Amino acid sequence: MPDAWETKITQIRPNEVRVRGYDIAELMGRVSFGAAVYLILMGELPDEKTGRLMDAIVVSSIDHGATPPSCLAARTVASTGAGLSQSVAAGIMSINRHHGGAIENCARQLKEVINRKHAMGIGFDEAAKVELDEMKSRGARMSGFGHRVHTADPRTARLLELADEAGACGEHVAAARAVEKAFADKGKPLPINVDGAIGAILADLGFSPEVMNGVFMIARVPGLVAHVSEEQAIQKPMRKIDPVNHTYTGPGPRTIA
Ligand SMILES: CC(C)(COP(=O)(O)OP(=O)(O)OC[C@H]1O[C@@H](n2cnc3c(N)ncnc32)[C@H](O)[C@@H]1OP(=O)(O)O)[C@@H](O)C(=O)NCCC(=O)NCCS
Repeated sequence: MPDAWETKITQIRPNEVRVRGYDIAELMGRVSFGAAVYLILMGELPDEKTGRLMDAIVVSSIDHGATPPSCLAARTVASTGAGLSQSVAAGIMSINRHHGGAIENCARQLKEVINRKHAMGIGFDEAAKVELDEMKSRGARMSGFGHRVHTADPRTARLLELADEAGACGEHVAAARAVEKAFADKGKPLPINVDGAIGAILADLGFSPEVMNGVFMIARVPGLVAHVSEEQAIQKPMRKIDPVNHTYTGPGPRTIA
């Protein structure tokens, strides 16, 4: 018999499913979705506060209305008569460097700030300034900063608050705050956006950059399914989809009871 290939993720035997060693039936009802995402990507269960933070990360990115490129792509493909999987896949394919996928780049760029700080023996603020100047000279953008709609992304503040509570704020979060300050000091305030906050937090939690954009994809799929389903249910085939001009007709603002 040829050598068997290896996987360390999930073990399947008759009547038994074990994710990273844990019986799936034991995880069900006890472990939140965010904690399960952490388990499958990191190999261990998170502590309670980190699990809560992971849950907040996936909730933060579940949807951002009808204008993001991924939503427009999914709706456009749905409007051609494509099925759910094709339409959602089109949305996922548009999660890249400039949308949703800024998480990985942001984490890598924050690492550059950290490296600069250590190599030059300077503080975070100075390192962020030097890094931004260097990036500007080669026409590069700092991923995870700036937003087309928000000047203060409501998701960022809450995520950083929960990260603080979980004791998860390390050098990457410090570097992100320093970059935000450096932009403001230059008279060009560009806030940490949700991708930037997630990139900084995941990096401080020890996630590998290669899987980080996947966390955004995992989070956004429910939103894309909802948009495709609504498109198929109430819109005309092959309509002209205006990226901006739409009206929200769902429930008004409400709070959790
Ligand atoms: C999100 C984004 C596309 C929104 O851009 P926007 O508000 O439409 O702004 P523009 O692309 O018109 O840029 C306006 C100016 O700000 C600068 N700018 C915007 N975001 C920047 C960034 N992240 N880093 C450096 N400069 C930035 C642009 O270079 C431009 O400068 P100029 O006026 O000197 O030419 C932009 O901020 C960006 O590319 N961010 C990085 C990618 C990212 O984080 N994406 C995830 C979004 S949730």
